[in-house]
Amino acid sequence: MMAGDYLHNLFGLAGRTAVVVGGTGVLGGALAEGLARAGAFVVVAGRGADRGSGRVAAIKAGGSDATFVTVDAVARDSVRALLDATLRATGRVDILVNCAGVNSSLPYFEIPDDDFDRVIDTNLKSTHLGCQIFGAHMADHGGGAILNIGSVSADKPLSKVFAYSASKAAVVNYTRNVARELAPRGVRVNALCPGFFPAEQNRKILSPERVAAIMGQTPMNRFGEPAELVGAALLLCAPTAGSFIAGAELYVDGGFTAMRL
Ligand SMILES: NC(=O)c1ccc[n+]([C@@H]2O[C@H](COP(=O)([O-])OP(=O)(O)OC[C@H]3O[C@@H](n4cnc5c(N)ncnc54)[C@H](O)[C@@H]3O)[C@@H](O)[C@H]2O)c1
Repeated sequence: MMAGDYLHNLFGLAGRTAVVVGGTGVLGGALAEGLARAGAFVVVAGRGADRGSGRVAAIKAGGSDATFVTVDAVARDSVRALLDATLRATGRVDILVNCAGVNSSLPYFEIPDDDFDRVIDTNLKSTHLGCQIFGAHMADHGGGAILNIGSVSADKPLSKVFAYSASKAAVVNYTRNVARELAPRGVRVNALCPGFFPAEQNRKILSPERVAAIMGQTPMNRFGEPAELVGAALLLCAPTAGSFIAGAELYVDGGFTAMRL
């Protein structure tokens, strides 16, 4: 067998459908493009039609296929409608990436309830709704793979982002629990935990002092590029390469989690 065939069999997604919730964002967009280039038909889902349509156009320009569907990831009816729209488009769903997220950085004693709720809902409840609604369908229709997005703050909390760190610790804990629940039914659930990748949700938080502190604890001494998440995502999502991986969390962080000083 040629090396290309071997890799295609391991990581290829031809004939599969992947849904990326938050595919409108920086990391979700890169994951959507990566899954599409591996052969999947990708449903880019999110709130911003302009950015979603732009990502679909980029995927199509690269010779792959995709469509955009609007979703509010914290609303059950909307996530259910996303599943229905996906099934209308391709008749199947094999991969779900839960990549909607928000961040907030306020002095601890000044965090309003609605800000705390917004972060927990967007990061954790959206993950729950995606896993429950898509997981049920996958379990009843031959299995699939779900990828939740954690963070290095899921391991030890990051200063200044209280709700965010708690939400990501919860996403990883939840991922393990749902993996146990769904693995017997053919659905593999895993978490990808990125380090620091400049994006919309963290731009305001990355002050020069913060950047210096991050680099001081990142052995590779740089930010990640969104495309550097794709290989890890393919490993966790591809039915052959990832066939025995469930309940895992994979850190892609330039070594941040591996060290203290
Ligand atoms: N950028 C990083 O360094 C980093 C590190 C670790 C984890 N993450 C996580 O990666 C994920 C993607 O973040 P990003 O950095 O690409 O940020 P981003 O702001 O570029 O993307 C987030 C996307 O989620 C969408 N979204 C938010 N609420 C939504 C809702 N209710 N319904 C539908 N879509 C919604 C936003 O519109 C946006 O397109 C998040 O879960 C984030 O916490 C990011």
